[in-house]
Amino acid sequence: MPDIESLLKEKRVFEPSADFTKRAHWSKRKADALRKLGAQNPEKFWAQMAEEHVTWFKPWRKVLDWKPPYAKWFVGAQTNVAYNCLDRHVEGEHAWRRNKAAILWEGEPGDTRVLTYAQLHREVCKFANVLKGLGVAKGDRVAIYMPLVPEAVVAMLACTRIGATHSVVFGGFSAEALRDRVNDAGAKLVVTADGGYRRGKAFALKPAVDEALDGCPGVSAVVVVKRTGEPVSMKAGRDHWWDALMATVSADCPAAKLDSEHPLFILYTSGTTGKPKGILHTTGGYLTHVACTTKAIFDLRDDDIYWCTADVGWVTGHSYVVYGPLAVGATVFLYEGVPTYPGPDRWWSMIEKWGITILYTAPTAIRTFIRLGDEHPKKHDLSSLRLLGSVGEPINPEAWIWYHRVIGGKRCPIVDTWWQTETGGILITPLPGAVPTKPGSATLPFPGIDAAVLDEAGREVPARAGGFLAVRRPWPGMLRGIWGDKKRYEDTYWSKWKKIYFPGDGAHRDEKGYFWILGRVDDVMNVSGHRIGTMEVESAIVSHEDVAEAAVVGRPDEITGTAIVAFVTPRAGMRAGRELMDEIRAHVTKHIGAIAKPADVHFTDALPKTRSGKIMRRLLRDIAAGKETVGDTTTLEDYSVLAKLRESEE
Ligand code: PRX
Repeated sequence: MPDIESLLKEKRVFEPSADFTKRAHWSKRKADALRKLGAQNPEKFWAQMAEEHVTWFKPWRKVLDWKPPYAKWFVGAQTNVAYNCLDRHVEGEHAWRRNKAAILWEGEPGDTRVLTYAQLHREVCKFANVLKGLGVAKGDRVAIYMPLVPEAVVAMLACTRIGATHSVVFGGFSAEALRDRVNDAGAKLVVTADGGYRRGKAFALKPAVDEALDGCPGVSAVVVVKRTGEPVSMKAGRDHWWDALMATVSADCPAAKLDSEHPLFILYTSGTTGKPKGILHTTGGYLTHVACTTKAIFDLRDDDIYWCTADVGWVTGHSYVVYGPLAVGATVFLYEGVPTYPGPDRWWSMIEKWGITILYTAPTAIRTFIRLGDEHPKKHDLSSLRLLGSVGEPINPEAWIWYHRVIGGKRCPIVDTWWQTETGGILITPLPGAVPTKPGSATLPFPGIDAAVLDEAGREVPARAGGFLAVRRPWPGMLRGIWGDKKRYEDTYWSKWKKIYFPGDGAHRDEKGYFWILGRVDDVMNVSGHRIGTMEVESAIVSHEDVAEAAVVGRPDEITGTAIVAFVTPRAGMRAGRELMDEIRAHVTKHIGAIAKPADVHFTDALPKTRSGKIMRRLLRDIAAGKETVGDTTTLEDYSVLAKLRESEE
């Protein structure tokens, strides 16, 4: 994670190239005018975006109804997300897109599929009828637990077509994590696959679904896509093969006319407590936000081949793999597997092969490729690329420059986009034809977004002073709540200041007003661009029978940004050692998923605590990072604890 010191030294500025600026959807003049409108009259700005980027069945009575902290956007209007992503590209003014590729897909073994807009539309209508046939109605929740195959996108769009609310659960999460999410959302149907491919091997998903559903009484049906062909058990009456159901339904399914505030999806993300939060997004405002940001920030045009490397299990996969790009009629490339299979040049070979023009990925991937060596991208012709994006964590200037030089051939603008699961879409970002970029800075708020850096009291801090990132006005893609937990929504995001959104990140601004995001200020770690709550990992560890107490902190890691470090006190008489360490790591994988597995486990007799019993994470973070402990330690309950921890480090 970059610290303020190193960021303050970053002086390089990259002006948008004349070539790019000339053709950009949002020229400097347009961007300036919209920025001005967004600042003076944000509702008018967003209404203009909603008219330009979304097809509505019924107009709104009111742009915004803001009863802090609850917002309703485009009140009284009706639309449908699947209609906007599909129907309007196969009929009417843009019917010429019927035979344009909507999805280009490559599986890890190298198999490929292409779905045109007409084909995707047909598949989605059919699967929407399958869902209806299995009793799914408007407002019901559907869980999607899939590898990255086109059917995952079909399932999402089919839900939106009939007004079912989807909850996509990343395929890397464990059976227990799936069970918690299915139950919390009250899903009645699960869409899954027999498995998928990773690192050259088939992995299974269906057994995890079977295990999870043992504790999910509300689920009445499971639809299974055959991807690997590995044997799976199918429970009679509950489990159905995707293909068999699709063969029985009609391809006629009109898009439901849904209220602008109809629940579109729930997506779980880690917070500071043990239980993940079900972030709720709704229809019209979200669609407006993702469609207009996709067009403006990625400058997407009809002849682009756009690749966002995220999985649909994360918010980036929702907003900038599926909904934003399909809403603007783009060709989206999807890749199922890991970046380094069968060799370290897999990504670059696919960019060359498919002629990819826009690449949107995460700093952790970029750092991995830096380490693997320049020879791999250099073996391939990457001249089709014209724009690069970064998301998920602060990008260190060195990685930015490498991305610019080696991947972008010094000609591609880089958009470093700051946003969150909760924000729905991008909030702080360069506009590639209009805003000069600085390596490591997400630059300026998108027009209509009132972002600031504030102190504890809610006052704006001076340039170059660190503070808390804040958003002072509501925006259309904002979360509408935490599923089933009003209080947690109010406490987490709206209690630090009055009527101001607190994202949980630290930041500072430079003299030009550019934002430099410093990372999380709460007990949430950002591992490879994915949020993992320390409490969530701690709860998993202490559920191991030999563990008495555990504290989890993050330490800086060159590749993943943050690595998870666990300090564990075993139960009296229990052996601390390699075996228990391995068990703990396996235990976390079982409870949450491999992504939350601690990189290091340290055993200790006691954890450093304040007199009131609070674990002193700051000290643990220093120890984990191998730093000298600084600052006041007088509130330590037991000085010897700290000394002991340090000894065990050596
Ligand atoms: O800390 C910020 C970091 O990722 C967090 C949001 O994580 P999540 O909800 O999983 O969404 C990730 C994809 C949007 C933020 O609170 N973050 C995201 N993008 C950036 C970033 N930090 C710095 N720069 C970014 N561009």
